[in-house]
Amino acid sequence: MVNAFTTIYETTYPARGPVLKLRGSSESFQHGSLTVTPVIMSDNSSFGAEISGIEWNNAIDPEVVKQLIGLQDKYGVLIFRKTGLDNARHIAFSQQLGEKLEVNPFFYGIEKDRVKEPFLWDVGNIELDGSLVRPNSRRWHHSLGNALWHTDSSYHQHRSKYSLLLAHKTPNSGGSWTHFADTRRAYAELPQAKKNFLENLVIEHDLWHSRKLGSPEVYGNPLPHELAAKPPAYHRLVQVAPDGRKTLFLAAHAKRVVGWSLEESQKLIWELIDHCTQLKYVFSMEWLSDGDMVWWDNRQSMHRANPYTESMGARDVRRTTIIDDGPLALGVSAEEMITMKCV
Ligand SMILES: [Fe+2]
Repeated sequence: MVNAFTTIYETTYPARGPVLKLRGSSESFQHGSLTVTPVIMSDNSSFGAEISGIEWNNAIDPEVVKQLIGLQDKYGVLIFRKTGLDNARHIAFSQQLGEKLEVNPFFYGIEKDRVKEPFLWDVGNIELDGSLVRPNSRRWHHSLGNALWHTDSSYHQHRSKYSLLLAHKTPNSGGSWTHFADTRRAYAELPQAKKNFLENLVIEHDLWHSRKLGSPEVYGNPLPHELAAKPPAYHRLVQVAPDGRKTLFLAAHAKRVVGWSLEESQKLIWELIDHCTQLKYVFSMEWLSDGDMVWWDNRQSMHRANPYTESMGARDVRRTTIIDDGPLALGVSAEEMITMKCV
């Protein structure tokens, strides 16, 4: 668990010189009007791709949106550089990818919100008055959970599918990374007996569990309004990804296997997270320029941020989150858990 928090991955995108050249990464190819540069290629999975050739000034052509969704289903994580998108166009593009966007539950009104938009999650390190987040503030400690491997919104009973993270400002000095893990390939390479054992498990996901792991001193006891805002949710561990392959739906929010003790549950959950985040399944995307954007599918990957540090520069990154409209969007109900004999 500690390693998941602190590891700096040598596998990077873009690759830096021959020593860090990505395993199996291929040359770019043309897909309609788009240029696609895969990040990691293996026999079992292609994971991550940088896409160029999009005209971001206007609404994206529906045919291009269709092509992008096809690429997203295949690669799980799509990277775009220097998009030039602003809040309105970021939201408009996100709305082309699904019916509904998640409203940020920590949006407490325009006058109290730096980015002034309920569809955007302000996940940078800048306060309303323009200063950097203060070390040891509640926001600082809340962010520490984001440095653990997770999927966004798995703690919602009606979960989300996509996240689109856009940099309005990224530090010049480098060191700004988001890390991604391929949970489809990780599942495919488990022994068959393990797959059989995991097949029907249901997991309780709880935002306050990951906050506590990230910062036990501050989030050991969340505030009553925090607990009320985010009750736990229940989802199958083994799921079918959009491309039809099986995958693991996991996160640091995963607290308990339904019907198991907390201790036994955490042992299995972190064994699986450690399995999924082996170097061969992971790459680290470097934020290079303002306007860079990454779009990932929470249903077939995990990700994590770098933790805040006292020497960090200003990082203004904003996220839209698109609610899942797929067959497993609503997770597992209490009635289904009784039928499945989980409880
Ligand atoms: Fe996240």
